[in-house]
Amino acid sequence: METIVSGARPTGLLHLGHLHGALRNWVGLQEDYRCFFFIADWHALTTDYQSPDGIMESTRAMVAEWLSVGLDPARCTIFRQSDVKEHAELHLLLSMLTPVSWLERNPTYKEQLRELSERDLSTYGFLGYPVLQAADIIMYKAHRVPVGVDQAPHVELTREIVRRFNSFYGPVFPEPEVLLTETQRLPGLDGRKMSKSYGNSVLLADPPETIDKKLSRMVTDTARARRTDPGEPEKCPAFNLHKIYCTPEEIREVSEGCRSAGIGCLDCKKVMIRHVIDDLEPFREKKAYYEKRPDDIRDVIAEGNRVAGDEAAATMSEVRSVLTL
Ligand code: TRP
Ligand code: SF4
Repeated sequence: METIVSGARPTGLLHLGHLHGALRNWVGLQEDYRCFFFIADWHALTTDYQSPDGIMESTRAMVAEWLSVGLDPARCTIFRQSDVKEHAELHLLLSMLTPVSWLERNPTYKEQLRELSERDLSTYGFLGYPVLQAADIIMYKAHRVPVGVDQAPHVELTREIVRRFNSFYGPVFPEPEVLLTETQRLPGLDGRKMSKSYGNSVLLADPPETIDKKLSRMVTDTARARRTDPGEPEKCPAFNLHKIYCTPEEIREVSEGCRSAGIGCLDCKKVMIRHVIDDLEPFREKKAYYEKRPDDIRDVIAEGNRVAGDEAAATMSEVRSVLTL
C-alpha cells in the first residue's frame, strides 16, 4: 500500500472551502492508502510566533472536526507535528543540504511575504518553511501528498531535496508526488475565494439557521438586479454550490428558471441551502458527540503520535546511519 502524508496548520474552525478543497478528498484516500494526517503546529509558528496562544486549543478543535467529517483513526494516523520531535531533527539535517536560493525563489514564500506584510516574516524559520514541510513528508516515505495548487511548489521542492539527499547518501527516500486536490472552486459569500480572513465563509459547525442566513445573502449573478431580469447561472457564485449539492433535475430546473427569470434568487438558493444543511447534519451530530468527550480527542492524538513516532524513529535511525551520525 502506498503512503500518503498531508497536514494543515491549526487555523480554527473548518469551513466549506476546507471540506471541498481537502477534507472530502482525505476521507476518500483512507480507503486506498496508508495515511498520515497531522496538525502542522510548528508551521503555524512560522507566521504566528508572536502570539502562539490558542494553537493548542485550535489543534484539538481541528482534530475533533476532522473526525466529525469522517477521518477515522482506525484507518489513518492523526497526530500533532510538535509531538514527534524527529521532524525537527530531520528538518535540521535537510537544512544542511538545501541551497538558500531554492527557498528564496519559492513562489509561495514571495507571495506570503507580500500578503502578510503587517508581520515581520524576515525570519530564518519562515524561509525554511518548505524544508520543515519536506521533513514532514519524507519522514513517512510518502509516495503522494494531497494538497491544493498553492502547495504544489513545496512538494516540488521536497522532490528536489530528496534527489539531493539520495545523491549524497544513497536511495533512502522515494520522491513524493503531488496529488492535486481537484478543487471544485468554492467561492465565499462575497464571491471571492472562501477564506477565514475574508469573513466570507460558511462554517461546518454553523447551526442550520446561520447557514440559511449566510447563504441567503450570498452574491448571485449581478446582472439580476431585479426579480424580472434574467440571469446566467454560470456567472453566479451561489450556483457553484448548486453544482455540488443539488440533483441534476434541480440544477436543470433552477438554471432554466434563472435564464427565463422564472425563479427568484432567494427561491433558487433555498433549493441548494436545504441540501447544504442536510449534508452537514451528520457532521453536527458527531461534533456534538466529541464535544462531550474531550478525552477521546486527546486519546486519538496520543495514539497517532505513538504510531507516527515509531515510524519517525525508524526513519531517523536510517538517516543517522547514512550520515554516519
Ligand atoms: N504548508 C501546508 C499548508 O499550509 C501545511 C503542511 C505542513 C503540509 N506540512 C505539510 C501539507 C506536509 C502537506 C504535507 O497547508
Ligand atoms: Fe444564481 Fe439562482 Fe439567482 Fe440565477 S436564480 S442568479 S443561479 S441564485
